[in-house]
Amino acid sequence: MKNIIPAASLGLPISIEKKASMDEALELFSLSGEEILIVMADGEYIGALSRRSLFNAKRYGLKVNLSEIAEEIPSGETFPGLEVLRNPLGAFLVLKETPKSLITLKEGPLLQEGLFKKETVKLKGELKTFAQILCEISSELGVSAYFVGGVVRDLILNRPCFDIDVVITRKVQKFAEKFARALQGEIIKKSLFGTFKIKAGAYIFDIAQMRWEYYEAPARLPRIAPGPLRLDLFRRDFTVNALALCPVTGQIVDFYGGVADIFSQKLRVLHVLSFIDDPTRIFRAARYATRFNLELTKTTLRAIDLALKFETLNLLTPARLRNEFLRIFEEKEPLKAILFLKKHRILKKLFSLDPDETLFKKAFHLAEVAGLGERAEIELVALLLAGSPEEFAKLELSTKKFESYQRQRKSLEEKASWLLDPAIPVSEKVFFLEKFPKELLCASVSFLDEDFLLRCFKHYFKVSPGLSGKDLKRLGLNSGPILGKILKKIRAAKLDGQIKDGEEITFLEKELKNGFPS
Ligand code: CTP
Repeated sequence: MKNIIPAASLGLPISIEKKASMDEALELFSLSGEEILIVMADGEYIGALSRRSLFNAKRYGLKVNLSEIAEEIPSGETFPGLEVLRNPLGAFLVLKETPKSLITLKEGPLLQEGLFKKETVKLKGELKTFAQILCEISSELGVSAYFVGGVVRDLILNRPCFDIDVVITRKVQKFAEKFARALQGEIIKKSLFGTFKIKAGAYIFDIAQMRWEYYEAPARLPRIAPGPLRLDLFRRDFTVNALALCPVTGQIVDFYGGVADIFSQKLRVLHVLSFIDDPTRIFRAARYATRFNLELTKTTLRAIDLALKFETLNLLTPARLRNEFLRIFEEKEPLKAILFLKKHRILKKLFSLDPDETLFKKAFHLAEVAGLGERAEIELVALLLAGSPEEFAKLELSTKKFESYQRQRKSLEEKASWLLDPAIPVSEKVFFLEKFPKELLCASVSFLDEDFLLRCFKHYFKVSPGLSGKDLKRLGLNSGPILGKILKKIRAAKLDGQIKDGEEITFLEKELKNGFPS
């Protein structure tokens, strides 16, 4: 710790009162040249205001109180009597005993002084091979390469990862071509942002040039330009994803405290306007928080509040919104992520129906038993949430579809008490219900009997006559619509428990004697 100057001896940070206006804060930034101001209210510390967040709020035309965009200062590594706290644009040294005594330093000197803890991981298996290939190609082309994002997070968590993101300093196309060749893979896509997708065996690689980005307006796609690793990591959604790994040394580059957040199970945005920039990140939050059991930090909660207050969710295109729901359905426990969105008022902001938790649980359980595919899952969500064709369209579903579901739902509602009547044979109910789309049945659990629907999906819908038209012809029956009727009657007998598997022919013969079918 030889080169560290005790924070207290360097004086107080520049602070601003919470009730100051945005313009006053901008002026103070400009006059002082600082990147961070400390927001105070009656002598109490509220948070850190970054020049960048304030500037962007102003640029987007958002009217905010300083306390709404003040960010929590995450703890970084601790040293005896001293803690290093991080912020994207600077770093803080803070005396543990007197947390209000903060100073900001530019990140450069801190890095030079080796203040950022350097975690090293040992690469194993295929990742080690990929790292070796990255090293060879990097030195051949004279560029630097890093693993970034989810793969680093998953490596720390000891989870398998087959989607590997790599950033390099320059020559991205050449790099991607050589990398694909070395892995005997192929480039399958070149994206809008100049990234190359490579498929090699079970792995998908995204090779991109290090870049920074900014948003021209909330919820737009970002503008990008080449930039340093520090900003490439800063442009990401959460600290746990803002990590890089050097394939040469195995060292983790962690500017924003992502490693600490992984271990303390925190989901922290890189800055408070993150969800204004890109509201899809709230859906990503739902996935990460539930997949890794992470707790949202104060700044992440403030970021959600801002996105809700400024209506940015409604700026998302249907294709983007739909895609986020599709990704939720790829999770092991999509229901948890959906309930996260409900809890944080996201669903209510986008849709009007706002069903309670129990209905979600029942509908999702039925959907799981029914084995709905991706398309039907989206439609189930739309049925549970959307109260109008306009809301249906938010998930790229047509007005026609909405109307058709409405009609079908009405027929189901009309038969709700008939379906509950124990005097009606099971077969009649099954023949009626199976005409409806499975997703609609799942969504209709609010007024249909859950147990009966479960039995339908588990068993009744799968009951077959056990004989085919061909079998009937072999038994001497003539072709024609009559065959269909006979098969239906056999199936009904099975559904109503009159016969079991293997008893079809005996049943048929008996019924034929009685002039079956009537
Ligand atoms: N990213 C982001 N904002 C988005 C989408 C992506 O910041 N709206 C960043 C994330 O930091 C992420 C990286 O881009 O790590 C790659 O995105 P993606 O492939 O979707 O994430 P992975 O981490 O690879 O996938 P997952 O988290 O689902 O395992």
